[in-house]
Amino acid sequence: MSDNTSEKKNEHGHGTTGHSWDGIEEWDNPMPRWWVWTFYLTIIWGIGYVIAYPAWPLINGATAGVLGWSTRADVAAEIQAVEEANAPINAKLESVDLNAIVGDAELNTYAVSAGGAVFRTWCAQCHGSGAAGAKGYPNLLDDDWLWGGDMEAIHHTVAHGIRNEDSDDARYSEMPAFGRDELLTEEEVDQVTNYVMSLSGEANDAAQVEAGSVLYADNCASCHMEDGTGDREQGAPNLADAIWLFGGEYEDIKHTVTYSRFGVMPAWNTRLTEAQIRAVTAYVHQLGGGE
Ligand code: HEC
Ligand code: HEC
Repeated sequence: MSDNTSEKKNEHGHGTTGHSWDGIEEWDNPMPRWWVWTFYLTIIWGIGYVIAYPAWPLINGATAGVLGWSTRADVAAEIQAVEEANAPINAKLESVDLNAIVGDAELNTYAVSAGGAVFRTWCAQCHGSGAAGAKGYPNLLDDDWLWGGDMEAIHHTVAHGIRNEDSDDARYSEMPAFGRDELLTEEEVDQVTNYVMSLSGEANDAAQVEAGSVLYADNCASCHMEDGTGDREQGAPNLADAIWLFGGEYEDIKHTVTYSRFGVMPAWNTRLTEAQIRAVTAYVHQLGGGE
């Protein structure tokens, strides 16, 4: 029960708010000074903050604040500082002979770690974060190379890419679609497929292998070589090593022979600096298969 007509001072001389419930009154003590001043200071600080820093949200951003501070500018400044700090070593990386990188311990350590970062950003989505590849995307950990695994070859592949239209120096070759374009009948495709299976000791139909071997010599050996070991000049894979880019099941190989394959990799010299390309080349080279 509230009684607003009660005395504004109680028997102890304290002011009351005039609220009283069953004789229990609410005293009206002043706020402590320190509390009141702190309260005013937070208001003043809040007004100052709104003026100095980005504060009010707008449709495309926020008010800038008179100090012109932004997290984005901070990040840009940090990136610039790192770039400036790395400028001398990047310049060295760009100018030395490619094959000299491995021999220079400091340069090599820098290249491999910077190259790892480039790889995770630009290459991992196709080649896998561990570089083990996937169907159609070559494993870069092993020593089985389509186009070559020394520093020069990897550098060329990365800089210009493969079968793309971005670079005139892109690696290029095209396997004929023997089945689709009726260069071979389906029966002949089956025969040569069995022969390819036999090259790496996979299960095959021995009765078809002999005819397949003749077809192979006539149609395939010019690119994949007589013994099936492939030709890096043409990016023609080794067919005798049981490592398959497009799968080693009978149906996979038959599909390749019937329709051919056309693996494309973009050129990177339009998006990455020469130092970045050299760094990622050094990174790929040391993964395990570098020559
Ligand atoms: C869009 C997918 C894609 C991206 C991204 C990509 N690659 Fe490739 N890469 C391929 C394909 C596909 C091939 C195989 C092409 C072929 O069939 O010859 C290949 C082949 C290669 C080869 C040749 C391997 C060999 O055996 O000769 C190297 C080296 C390579 N990539 C490195 C890189 C690096 C380094 C990056 C990042 C800067 C990268 N790739 C980014 C798709 C990609
Ligand atoms: C003009 C050169 C050329 C000729 C001729 C050729 N190939 Fe190929 N072959 C290639 C190239 C290049 C690739 C890789 C394509 C790619 O990476 O996109 C390939 C890929 C393959 C593959 C896939 C290998 C893998 O690791 O998955 C098989 C299998 C194959 N060829 C079999 C044959 C057979 C069989 C013939 C003959 C009937 C033949 N090729 C004729 C160039 C050729």
